[in-house]
Amino acid sequence: AQQKSYVTIEKSTDAPTISKHIYGHFAEHLGRCIYDGFYVGDTSAIPNKNGVRKDIIKALKELKIPNLRWPGGCFADTYHWKDGIGPKEDRPTIVNTWWGGVTEDNSFGTHDFLNLCEELDTEPYLAANVGSGTVKEFADWLQYVNHIGPSPMADLRKKYGRETPWGVKYWGVGNEMWGCGGNMTPEYYANLYKRYATFMTSWDNEKNLFRIASGANVDDYHWTEVLMRDIPKNLIEGVALHSYSYVEWNEKGSSVDFNEAQYFSTMQTAMKMEELVTKHVAIMDKYDPRGKVALVVDEWGGWYDVMDGTNPGFLYQQNTMRDAMIAGITLNIFNNHADRVRMANLAQTVNVLQAVILTEGEKMLLTPTYHVMKMYNVHQDATLLPVKLTAPDYIFNGEKLPAVSVSASEKEGKTHISLVNINSKEAVEVSINVEGLNVKKFTGEALTSAKLQNYNSFDNPEAIAPKEFEDFKLKKGIITVTLPPFSVVVLEGK
Ligand code: AHR
Repeated sequence: AQQKSYVTIEKSTDAPTISKHIYGHFAEHLGRCIYDGFYVGDTSAIPNKNGVRKDIIKALKELKIPNLRWPGGCFADTYHWKDGIGPKEDRPTIVNTWWGGVTEDNSFGTHDFLNLCEELDTEPYLAANVGSGTVKEFADWLQYVNHIGPSPMADLRKKYGRETPWGVKYWGVGNEMWGCGGNMTPEYYANLYKRYATFMTSWDNEKNLFRIASGANVDDYHWTEVLMRDIPKNLIEGVALHSYSYVEWNEKGSSVDFNEAQYFSTMQTAMKMEELVTKHVAIMDKYDPRGKVALVVDEWGGWYDVMDGTNPGFLYQQNTMRDAMIAGITLNIFNNHADRVRMANLAQTVNVLQAVILTEGEKMLLTPTYHVMKMYNVHQDATLLPVKLTAPDYIFNGEKLPAVSVSASEKEGKTHISLVNINSKEAVEVSINVEGLNVKKFTGEALTSAKLQNYNSFDNPEAIAPKEFEDFKLKKGIITVTLPPFSVVVLEGK
């Protein structure tokens, strides 16, 4: 018999807005994300605007990316922003010690990044150097990008061609301070954070600063506890969390050639996000019952071995339907926790880890993950519709996971329901009770493929793309949908 799932969706008077910033992205100076990814230089034969590929700009605009985190990652705590301003030929080089030991020529710097964000109509999120920087260097960067002037840094910015400040709101105070950011204890970092945050001035920025403390690694709840306990609430707006999905951390396996056991363990780590968010939020509730501080999951996504023949330090991997599953379930988790999860960043935008875009020479393709993020962007800034879900089990080797994941929202008279079936072999019939909503008609879109391991290649870049979906009916306030194996479906009701 076909597997069955039951969902009830109701309006709630106190439901939160799903912040569009949950749909954020991350671009690090790592492998081919910036150089030979976004940035090809303005002398490249590849069509570009100020050195950034026009095809990438177009694809990201269509995706409606709300924010972009830069320049790292681990790279952030080695980055000295003054190396990346002024005439490009005069910029010093550095060695990218975290990622492949390659020489970084600093040709993509602050102006390049912030102008790109303006072009994309996205909010920049600057991750600033705490690990190997100074309070003065940090405060100067803020003055450089946000002060109208006159001031030493605003004058320098004007000298280098930018009259008006960019007004950067989102600032990361270091990255992974428990690891590549300086191997600190949470107590030590909490003190350091307070020192940096004290000297962060918002200058003429009409928007208040949004200061994000470097957060916990996965289930390090003690880290969140100490930060929430020791940092006064007037000095912090967000606390971060990093968690990746993988088969086994020390034996990640191929991104395209994986078996069901490897798929199942990837789904286990992806679904762990529900428990992680719930437990970190419970700690935050204890110290911040009014919910002022946001949980910012500023690194998430699938992490596998690099593709054969590529630099191990470049983290270049392909992107299959397994990644579409990670994206679908993770975004549903974030939507359903929208009261506290108000920002997140998929790692990473182009050519690195769970990328939405891959490039090869002049070619570019959109991955299955891109398509899921685009199908889901209807939830951006919509009101959450809380769901009650009974899901059948997806069982593998005696272990179980819920096969179905769901979230729903309402905006401007439209209702959206995003559904994922992670079961690799069986379809699931989902009955969704929408009696409490005033919806007359639904349409649908689905992302599916014949094999879980399928991906978009440069020879066949549109092998996987969303298609109109009609395998559902609405009768007496109940929608009955059949979700194919490993599929993502978004229904729109009016
Ligand atoms: O996204 C790749 C790396 O993963 C980041 O640089 C770091 O913050 C994390 O460990």
